[in-house]
Amino acid sequence: MGRASRSLIGYVFACTNSTQDECFRRRLFGNNKVRGAIAIRVRKGSFLFLQNLDTDVLFGVFRAATDCIFDWQKDAWKGRYPYQVKVEPLGEITPLTEAEKLLRKLKGDRNSQLPEESTSILLELYGFEDVRDKHLLEYFSDEDLIIREPTCWNLPKKLRINDSKVERLPKLQPTTLWDFPRQSYGFTPKGHNKYAGVTPAELIWNLVWRYTNPGDLVVDPMCGSGTTIDVCQEEGRRAIGYDLEPILGRSDIKRNDARKIPLEDNTADMIFVDSPYGDNIRYNDNPACIGNISSEDELFYDELEKVIAECRRILKDGKIVGWLIGDQWVRRRFTPVGFILYQRLCKYFETVDIVCVPRRGQSSHTDLWTNRAKRFNFFLRGYRYLFIMRKLSGLKSKKINTRKVNWTCYER
Ligand SMILES: C[S@@+](CC[C@H](N)C(=O)[O-])C[C@H]1O[C@@H](n2cnc3c(N)ncnc32)[C@H](O)[C@@H]1O
Repeated sequence: MGRASRSLIGYVFACTNSTQDECFRRRLFGNNKVRGAIAIRVRKGSFLFLQNLDTDVLFGVFRAATDCIFDWQKDAWKGRYPYQVKVEPLGEITPLTEAEKLLRKLKGDRNSQLPEESTSILLELYGFEDVRDKHLLEYFSDEDLIIREPTCWNLPKKLRINDSKVERLPKLQPTTLWDFPRQSYGFTPKGHNKYAGVTPAELIWNLVWRYTNPGDLVVDPMCGSGTTIDVCQEEGRRAIGYDLEPILGRSDIKRNDARKIPLEDNTADMIFVDSPYGDNIRYNDNPACIGNISSEDELFYDELEKVIAECRRILKDGKIVGWLIGDQWVRRRFTPVGFILYQRLCKYFETVDIVCVPRRGQSSHTDLWTNRAKRFNFFLRGYRYLFIMRKLSGLKSKKINTRKVNWTCYER
């Protein structure tokens, strides 16, 4: 017996024929990184269901006996599913047939928490009549796992499920084009969407999930309204955010000049920087603000290079810095800010990839400026670069050997 939350919070995990037995034997459910963000939200007491993707059955009901623990049983499933939750059966386990169809009807999937109503309907399908019964909500068992015969389910044809209270989480971006229509996601704000130059929170979320593990330290030396800190906190990462002029009301942002970061060498697991792109935004009146220097001036890149060198110093070997920057076009002159900064980054880091991030919600994206761009034959800035760079132990990156690749060719 253990303490449990009293609300009907439910999640679906998946297995296949080759992993099902291990789930039951270890009484452990696991996710890989792709659905790690869902798993880390599971709390002790949540109702869990296991969908076998091969046989299309849904096993239930289980109770989470722990919160999600990262890499707890390292040898489970040969290390493939490190976001793990210890589970206990809630009585005998029944496999319900046509799992995919059932979950579709209940607006449930493995990418988010189940709507409360759906958890309740599932519990009833599994034979728990009074789903809000105090005993059910506090019941944990260490009984043997007894699996019954597969059973069909029956639900009314028309079922209205309200899923507006279910938090939709970002998805990992599979390509090098990361387009985020909104600055934030989920139920809590990340950073301040009115802060000039605020970073899309999903961009940071993607870097965090690709390049860090729970508990890792993420540093943002120019963190503005604190988007990096907020994303990291929700995803179970530690974060330190600095800014030359921390915004009012955020005591968690430390005042600091990014050209000298008060951290030991080799301490950060990831760094994110969304630096000024020149002097297009007036962040503050502090003379040390790099955003007061024009990107047409070499000094701008020299000062940013000092930040780059600091990032390299505090970053652990093999770890990632993500740097967001955009080009400039002012008074009939184009400045390839991204390319120039990239050259400086290459002196310290190896390139992992370059991502294109469409610019949304820009003050220049108005009818007036759109017309001017067409009439006077120039372009409004449509995207930014996200440089994803890796620290290698030697200053020079490894010698790159060309490789023979057998490309698949298609007939025209
Ligand atoms: C594009 S904004 C960062 C936005 C932030 N990622 C967010 O989501 O709110 C750039 C930030 O760099 C800061 N900055 C400029 N010069 C700096 C310096 N020398 N040291 C530290 N921060 C600096 C500015 O104050 C500004 O907040």
